[in-house]
Amino acid sequence: MEIAPGAHHFPGFLTTARQRAIAECCRALVDGAIPAYVPVVRGGGKMHVRMLCLGRHWNARTYQYEPIRSDFDGLPAPPLPAEFCELAREIASHAGMPLQPDLCILNYYDADGRMGLHQDKDEGPESIAAGIPVVSVSIGDTARFLFGGLKRRDPVEVLDLVSGDAFVFGGPARLRYHGVSRITPGTAPPELEISGRFNLTFRQSDDACRASS
Ligand code: SIN
Ligand code: MN
Repeated sequence: MEIAPGAHHFPGFLTTARQRAIAECCRALVDGAIPAYVPVVRGGGKMHVRMLCLGRHWNARTYQYEPIRSDFDGLPAPPLPAEFCELAREIASHAGMPLQPDLCILNYYDADGRMGLHQDKDEGPESIAAGIPVVSVSIGDTARFLFGGLKRRDPVEVLDLVSGDAFVFGGPARLRYHGVSRITPGTAPPELEISGRFNLTFRQSDDACRASS
């Protein structure tokens, strides 16, 4: 379903079995040897998610990608699992867009989790100018997702991202503002045995653009 030029919502893209496999993988990653953590942004405020960057680390202080978590514990970003990479490419191809992801930001939202309106614009000028999409996968509790325009004050569309949904924004939608205003606790499919929500956003940085050209 194309909700705006370059923005596609695929409700129920993933079967429950696939959601379960992803949920298990996410759980192992966020509580793994290099765990998820609560980032502190430039102004000193804590984010309202637990974050784990895979492939490359997004530094919440500098808004740049780096190999090492220099704003937190100095550990390397864990690698992006090959099956995650394949999943992102599968979803992007459903939207008719190319994507060779080299990084994923995995966020865990508890019942109070949220994320303010923002643009995803740190992947680099080439990737963004080419309109290479961000691919988002939602697992667990339902989120109220806000999808705005290219300016912060533009009106926002409100939609629910349900467990198993995919959302893609690329091309002319690549820099649209978006955020999560709330999570609805207890809405995850019971088969997942999960409370809260995992969201994975796959991206292609300029480094990957250069490597593939
Ligand atoms: C993000 O914008 O990075 C996350 C969006 C979401 O959680 O759905
Ligand atoms: Mn984002």
